[in-house]
Amino acid sequence: MSDYQVKTVPTKAFQDQRPGTSGLRKRVPVFQQEHYTENFIQSILSSIPGGPKDTTLVVGGDGRYYSNEVVQKIIQLSAGNGVKKLVIARDIIFSTPAISHEIRSRKATGGILLTASHNPGGPKADFGIKYNMDNGGPAPEAVTEAIFAHSKELTEYKLVDLPEVDLSQLGERQVGPISIEVIDAVKPYVAFLKTLFDFDAIKAYVHQPDVSVLFDGLSGVTGPYARDIFINELGLDESSIQGCEPSPDFNGGHPDPNLTYAHDLVKAVEEKQITFGAASDGDGDRNMIYGAGAFVTPSDSVAIIADWAESIPYFAKGGVKGLARSMPTSTALDRVAKAKGIEHFEVPTGWKFFGNLMDAGRLSICGEESFGTGSDHVREKDGLWAIVAWLNILAAADKKGIKGIKGVLQDHYSKYGRTFFSRYDYEEVDSDAANKVIKELSDLFASSDFVGSSPTATSSSTSFKVAEVGNFAYTDPIDHSVSKNQGHYVTFSDGSRFVVRLSGTGSQGATIRLYVEKYSQDSSEYGRDTQEGLKPLIEVALKLSKLVEQTGRKEPTVIT
Ligand code: G6P
Ligand code: ZN
Repeated sequence: MSDYQVKTVPTKAFQDQRPGTSGLRKRVPVFQQEHYTENFIQSILSSIPGGPKDTTLVVGGDGRYYSNEVVQKIIQLSAGNGVKKLVIARDIIFSTPAISHEIRSRKATGGILLTASHNPGGPKADFGIKYNMDNGGPAPEAVTEAIFAHSKELTEYKLVDLPEVDLSQLGERQVGPISIEVIDAVKPYVAFLKTLFDFDAIKAYVHQPDVSVLFDGLSGVTGPYARDIFINELGLDESSIQGCEPSPDFNGGHPDPNLTYAHDLVKAVEEKQITFGAASDGDGDRNMIYGAGAFVTPSDSVAIIADWAESIPYFAKGGVKGLARSMPTSTALDRVAKAKGIEHFEVPTGWKFFGNLMDAGRLSICGEESFGTGSDHVREKDGLWAIVAWLNILAAADKKGIKGIKGVLQDHYSKYGRTFFSRYDYEEVDSDAANKVIKELSDLFASSDFVGSSPTATSSSTSFKVAEVGNFAYTDPIDHSVSKNQGHYVTFSDGSRFVVRLSGTGSQGATIRLYVEKYSQDSSEYGRDTQEGLKPLIEVALKLSKLVEQTGRKEPTVIT
């Protein structure tokens, strides 16, 4: 056998490596501390159910700053821990949903994903490491807690000193004790998408003279995927894509597809009156759908995809087994589920909660207000999947005389009513102040006279009668695990509600999210501006939580 040596490196444990909603996210300098990254990788390897020995792991990410250094560490530690093989994307350009698909189709043991998703990249910006299981989905809490437990007590890690592996060269090679296969991570994923959707109908639709398309990759990982889909497969020209060169710092941008950060796309779509605009985030799991004058809220998006599922070959063939949304996501999806008689679920924030339902064959389509939409074709949300799903739906709608995004939205509202929804984010708030806001609500909920009271928005003298309050808890119907403390909600007697919770994905301080929702069946309101329609509710939510007083923030950082 070869003459490599496993080295045991003494280390000191860090106490701050608890994975959040989507793995461990910190600023790059934190990961650059001596032993910090190695410790976390060792904790992951030690927590793989069944152990790391003889496993095959898929490795990739959005190619952000510091990715190559971390992959080289993963190779060395994997070799030191007896991992048999690593499957790595060429140049580490591997979208999160494509990794999920690769793990599943290869029946790999799991995967290590290097991304901080939609957070900015660069030497002072964010990095992240996340572990996914053999079903292709994010590790459940039992595993992330095991990782955290290991990380707090680690005294050593194991590695093999290996020369740097060139990740630009495709093919399989033996590096010391470990096999490294560098793959083209784009082609298999695009080929897979083609089996799910009606690409012929989409192609015919996008080539109609009055239809135009613009996709923005926000300089994240989806660029090469989008090029393959929009240019090679659908035959559109270069002007239909932008931001499609992956960049380690996302070209200095914030790769989050929403109205604030995908501003270039919104501007171009409005200026050129583009029929179909779309964007995806740094690692390719989020999406935004935006046509001229028509923004699709993620909550509506999942409801509409569910409503039109039969036009998508994958669902036409396999049926729709169930629908699900995260708790703060608007209830628009519930109405589609009820109308169609399909089972539906409300889970905590975090894509990992959908996985068990999918594995049990009870969930086909799901979504979150945080610009995540997807299905059981993989175990991550999937930005390009949602975007192609919308194109598939628009092609089908067009055949019925329903024109463009606006037409589809109006059609949906006239069938189901409209759910106005908005989220206010207060980023990097002092943690103590954020906890006080939550405490304020807990105390209020505990007071005997709150339910039944009618707080009033002073600016409009609109009042809302409190019908139900709570701190959302979820019992997984499959493994019966319980997740408590998932967000404070207040539901009013007219069906409107607000939710306050602390983000689990921030890398510094605390982020408070306030979600507000109002349902209307009055068609004269359907064209109304969302912010205007929700103003009294937002005012009441801010008043009850004392958010402005506690945090000193008069305005949110981001409104979506
Ligand atoms: C990530 C997760 C989503 C989650 C979102 C917001 O994208 O994959 O499941 O909805 O972050 O999470 P947060 O805890 O920051 O509200
Ligand atoms: Zn993401």
